[in-house]
Amino acid sequence: MEFDLIISALLGIFLFHGLCSSEKAPNYSFMREATTAPAISHYDYIIIGGGTAGCPLAATLSEKYSVLLLERGGSPYGNPNITNLSAFGSALSDLSPNSPSQRFISEDGVINARARVLGGGSCLNAGFYSRAAVEYVRAVGWEGGLVNASYAWVEEKVAFQPPMRGWQSAVRDGLVEVGVEPYNGFTYDHVNGTKIGGTTFDADGRRHTAADLLEYANPKGITLLLHATVHKILFKTKGVSRPLARGVIFRDALGKIHKAYLTRGEMNEVILTSGALGSPQMLMLSGVGPSKQLKAHNITVVLDQPNVGQRMMDNPMNAIFVPSPIPVEVSLIEVVGITSFGSYIEAASGENFAEHYALNDYGMFSPKIGQLSTVPPKRRTPEALKKAINAMSALDDAVFRGGFLLEKIMGPLSTGHLELRTRNPNDNPSVTFNYFQQPEDLRRCVNGLKIIENIIESKSFSKFRYDSLSLPALLNLTASAPVNLLPKHDNVSVSLEQFCKDTVMTIWHYHGGCHVGDVVDQDYKVIGVDKLRVIDGSTFNYSPGTNPQATVMMLGRYMGVRIMNERLAKEKSPN
Ligand SMILES: Cc1cc2nc3c(=O)[nH]c(=O)nc-3n(C[C@H](O)[C@H](O)[C@H](O)COP(=O)(O)OP(=O)(O)OC[C@H]3O[C@@H](n4cnc5c(N)ncnc54)[C@H](O)[C@@H]3O)c2cc1C
Ligand SMILES: *[C@@H]1O[C@H](CO)[C@@H](O)[C@H](O)[C@H]1NC(C)=O
Ligand SMILES: *[C@@H]1O[C@H](CO)[C@@H](O)[C@H](O)[C@H]1NC(C)=O
Ligand SMILES: *[C@@H]1O[C@H](CO)[C@@H](O)[C@H](O)[C@H]1NC(C)=O
Ligand SMILES: *[C@@H]1O[C@H](CO)[C@@H](O)[C@H](O)[C@H]1NC(C)=O
Ligand SMILES: *[C@@H]1O[C@H](CO)[C@@H](O)[C@H](O)[C@H]1NC(C)=O
Ligand SMILES: *[C@@H]1O[C@H](CO)[C@@H](O)[C@H](O)[C@H]1NC(C)=O
Ligand SMILES: *[C@@H]1O[C@H](CO)[C@@H](O)[C@H](O)[C@H]1NC(C)=O
Ligand SMILES: *[C@@H]1O[C@H](CO)[C@@H](O)[C@H](O)[C@H]1NC(C)=O
Repeated sequence: MEFDLIISALLGIFLFHGLCSSEKAPNYSFMREATTAPAISHYDYIIIGGGTAGCPLAATLSEKYSVLLLERGGSPYGNPNITNLSAFGSALSDLSPNSPSQRFISEDGVINARARVLGGGSCLNAGFYSRAAVEYVRAVGWEGGLVNASYAWVEEKVAFQPPMRGWQSAVRDGLVEVGVEPYNGFTYDHVNGTKIGGTTFDADGRRHTAADLLEYANPKGITLLLHATVHKILFKTKGVSRPLARGVIFRDALGKIHKAYLTRGEMNEVILTSGALGSPQMLMLSGVGPSKQLKAHNITVVLDQPNVGQRMMDNPMNAIFVPSPIPVEVSLIEVVGITSFGSYIEAASGENFAEHYALNDYGMFSPKIGQLSTVPPKRRTPEALKKAINAMSALDDAVFRGGFLLEKIMGPLSTGHLELRTRNPNDNPSVTFNYFQQPEDLRRCVNGLKIIENIIESKSFSKFRYDSLSLPALLNLTASAPVNLLPKHDNVSVSLEQFCKDTVMTIWHYHGGCHVGDVVDQDYKVIGVDKLRVIDGSTFNYSPGTNPQATVMMLGRYMGVRIMNERLAKEKSPN
């Protein structure tokens, strides 16, 4: 009986609002395929990775200097899987070698993704835009005035106020009703209580990304190469007191090798912005890392640096799927509850997968996971999944509705590590996050889920749930979906601890591997070598704000301005 109810809950009429398709892709005069690049070239700054931090950094430095920005992926412009809010999930489930998303599965058994596109993670993410807390900025030692100016610089191009329709409003009201107070309205600021945050999706549901920050670039100062995969940072080691970065080797789409070198100039630099997987991986591939591991891969050791790839962190995400008796809007994250115990409550609703639903996909944020869950885990063979998927697409105007209430824990305190698997930069390294190893992380998860349960039971949320579906039934439903590769226990509906562990997912805020203080100094300079910095999410000791992208983009701008100012000061009074 209950089973039937769940099915019918998942088979409502899904109201889809088509989005306007007119779209003006900027045609950056400085953006080219790497195949067009000369075999050897020279620049003041060479930036490895046109991602969330790399784009604002390159745009800023190009104001005064010659900059080469190397991105292994293609352009995000004109790709509806990226630009279209409703397509969230399409890019993540596209496993082709040209996909903007490269899937990886951590040793923990959690399915994850890393960007492979100009704009980086900001092209794949759920768009939520929220600043770091003022206390966070103070604690890491950033200069508050420049931080605020840098956020504003980013927001001018890519941040918007979300539409807040019925379902998201019910979550907001539910949060306040259950005591996540005060209600702070719409703000980018990180403040305790419930708020509406920013989003990088505009009023038409069109995504804006870090690549849009290249509109700020000086076209004469920047060269942007797409499908340019860096294989190695080149160091000068002879006749210098310590290793000195002097250029990079990269390959174009045809596999042809190119070299780019720094022009003469004491302050010119190579800057690594390849993200939390890419940056530690590239350091190791270039000979900077734990020497034992490098030697095992026959990599010549430039600097024995045991901290590279250490303390990798991923904030666990756990969600409860709630089928809705009435239609819900398609929404990604718009509201957040910032609790007093280190858990952030967010939500997403509606059908977020486009018509393509890959056979081997594990749906996240999609009510289709409820549908797939009707195939019992043991019988979830590729054939059975294919049948279920075909059955779903046969349903006219495919008709799934409901949403996810999710919680992300602050921090986290549990840490892991990253190791090379091969010497090929296109291959994923092996990553371990050790979710919930620290008891405090588990406590934060359980307390977050309790708030979610209260919201589901709240008066404000009542019209978006079936009274007949009890909380334990909802927990069972979510746990029966293929959210990760872990075994599921029978007690998930009675133990939130077990539910946390068995249904752990990622919110894709993974960070670390090149920590400030361990691998880079306060100025993001790689410790022990010259002319090399790392500026991206790999440097975070703690995930900033409720969601990091605002701060990653801010950091790119912030460090660009600081590097320029230091240099101008030095050039004015050299000695
Ligand atoms: C699915 C998903 C949902 C998310 N949701 C949100 C959200 O709603 N809100 C939020 O704030 N954050 C969200 N995040 C997190 C946020 O997007 C990331 O933390 C952020 O984008 C990381 O930025 P980064 O600059 O460190 O790395 P990236 O943006 O990944 O940039 C690294 C770049 O380097 C390139 N690169 C790597 N190796 C090489 C190489 N060898 N040669 C050349 N180029 C290379 C990559 O292609 C990539 O473009 C989400 C992330 C994902 C994936
Ligand atoms: C966005 O995706 C939806 C669902 O796939 C599609 O119907 C719509 O046309 C897309 N909009 C654009 C602008 O591509
Ligand atoms: C983009 O700009 C380049 C250089 O300015 C030009 O050669 C090219 O034709 C333009 N492409 C489009 C699609 O407008
Ligand atoms: C969009 O994603 C689907 C898979 O999810 C893939 O088949 C399709 O080729 C992608 N489209 C583009 C333009 O990348
Ligand atoms: C930065 O902005 C926040 C609000 O967004 C404010 O609280 C803080 O005082 C500002 N910091 C400085 C140094 O101006
Ligand atoms: C390293 O080099 C040795 C000797 O040339 C070779 O036997 C070994 O297979 C190489 N290992 C790797 C991981 O390439
Ligand atoms: C916000 O909550 C945290 C955690 O409970 C607390 O440490 C902090 O002091 C609070 N901040 C404000 C401004 O109330
Ligand atoms: C949840 O699943 C367990 C194990 O399969 C089962 O014993 C329990 O009755 C289920 N609870 C509900 C409410 O469906
Ligand atoms: C849930 O059940 C499993 C296996 O039956 C057991 O190992 C685990 O301790 C239980 N979890 C809790 C939190 O009781």
